[in-house]
Amino acid sequence: MSEKKLTIGLFGFGCVGFGLYEVLHKTAGLKANIKKICIKNKDKKREIEAQHFTYDKNDILNDDEINVVVELIDDADAAFEIVSAALKKGKAVVSANKKMIAEHFTELLELQKEYGAPLLYEAAACASMPIIRNLEEYYDNDLLESIEGIVNGSTNYILTKTLEENLSYEEALKQAQEKGFAESNPLLDVGGFDAKYKLLILLAHSFGYIAQPDDIFNIGIDNIGELELRYAKEKGLKIKLVAHAFKEEDGSLSAFVIPKFVSTEDRLYHVDDVFNGIITKTSFADTHFFVGRGAGAYPTASAVLSDISALGYDYKYEYKKIYQKENLVLLDDVLLKVLVRHQKEDTLLLKEQFVSIEEAYTNNDSGYITGNIFLKNIKDLYIDYNSRLSFVLLEVLFNKEKAVLYDLETA
Ligand SMILES: NC(=O)c1ccc[n+]([C@@H]2O[C@H](COP(=O)([O-])OP(=O)(O)OC[C@H]3O[C@@H](n4cnc5c(N)ncnc54)[C@H](OP(=O)(O)O)[C@@H]3O)[C@@H](O)[C@H]2O)c1
Repeated sequence: MSEKKLTIGLFGFGCVGFGLYEVLHKTAGLKANIKKICIKNKDKKREIEAQHFTYDKNDILNDDEINVVVELIDDADAAFEIVSAALKKGKAVVSANKKMIAEHFTELLELQKEYGAPLLYEAAACASMPIIRNLEEYYDNDLLESIEGIVNGSTNYILTKTLEENLSYEEALKQAQEKGFAESNPLLDVGGFDAKYKLLILLAHSFGYIAQPDDIFNIGIDNIGELELRYAKEKGLKIKLVAHAFKEEDGSLSAFVIPKFVSTEDRLYHVDDVFNGIITKTSFADTHFFVGRGAGAYPTASAVLSDISALGYDYKYEYKKIYQKENLVLLDDVLLKVLVRHQKEDTLLLKEQFVSIEEAYTNNDSGYITGNIFLKNIKDLYIDYNSRLSFVLLEVLFNKEKAVLYDLETA
């Protein structure tokens, strides 16, 4: 048990903030207490007495007794101001804010180095599932080949409810919001942005590559329609929003987020509701499978609690893989087998982008194609035709070099 006394200044008292307050009070062994809570809205009714709260962030930031700032607010810009100010004052910080971390990864790394204060954020990727610390501590850079998984709880909840319980998309989203799974801005979830931010964090801790959010291509679940749902049902598949990152032997990386048809043999098939699941592939151990709740007050608070506890024994991320400075390059030349639903007038344009077509069907106003296409071409199509197309991944094939061989063999 740690001896260090942790005095916490908490920002945010919403789903996760209140969850943490309760979880902390049920955790007897931890020498940590919340001294002050900073919130925003003066008119909201609170679960605890007013004396605990402040509306002025400086009441926490300027309090020398507070040595840990826990940031659990839903505003990434305000969060960055708070977190950077706290690190500059030498306070340890715990955050669950993946958008803020993904948008400022390099700056946050520099601040930790310059001011010697740690920033932990296990809850920011897959909530309760301890993936960051495993990537950080367990896997050596050379061992890890790929990570693939469901990293967003709300979209998994929505997909489970629409596919298996025939709920409408709107009703499923409403339920996810009521249960506290969804981001305040639902587009972050359903547009695949939240999954992209998490993938960016995982990429840094898996392979030591710091991407910018715009470097990672994301397709969400908001364009998925009847045809894709029917296709999945008829073939005994499920649709999952899957984040992919993998490293080739030549040091090239691929990272993208896309809805995927998964079969019963895929371990992700069985990851339903608000659960997240990640499969890591290593050179020698083959695969590992992590699973856990990917959102919700207590599960997320549990990861925050674990970070607070780790601060008690001065734990910090070493970012070993980043400092090894391997020459890595993020490419979008991976060949994907997909199904795309499109409008009739886009048929020709789409067909030109495919390397090979397996099946194509068009009726009076729409159609679909299954076949192989490079990620780069999907990205280009998305710039102009985003709202008219719906891509669902069937299989990740190869990078460009191997794809040429594959094409030659199958021609
Ligand atoms: N919910 C989940 O399952 C989950 C899972 C993993 C990670 N996260 C992350 O955890 C964080 C919090 O999420 P949440 O679901 O708890 O959000 P939430 O329920 O909407 O609560 C947000 C809280 O932030 C406060 N707040 C907003 N701006 C503020 C500011 N400038 N200064 C002080 N307080 C401010 C709000 O104050 P008022 O109460 O005054 O409005 C509210 O208490 C987010 O970064 C989210 O991405 C959430």
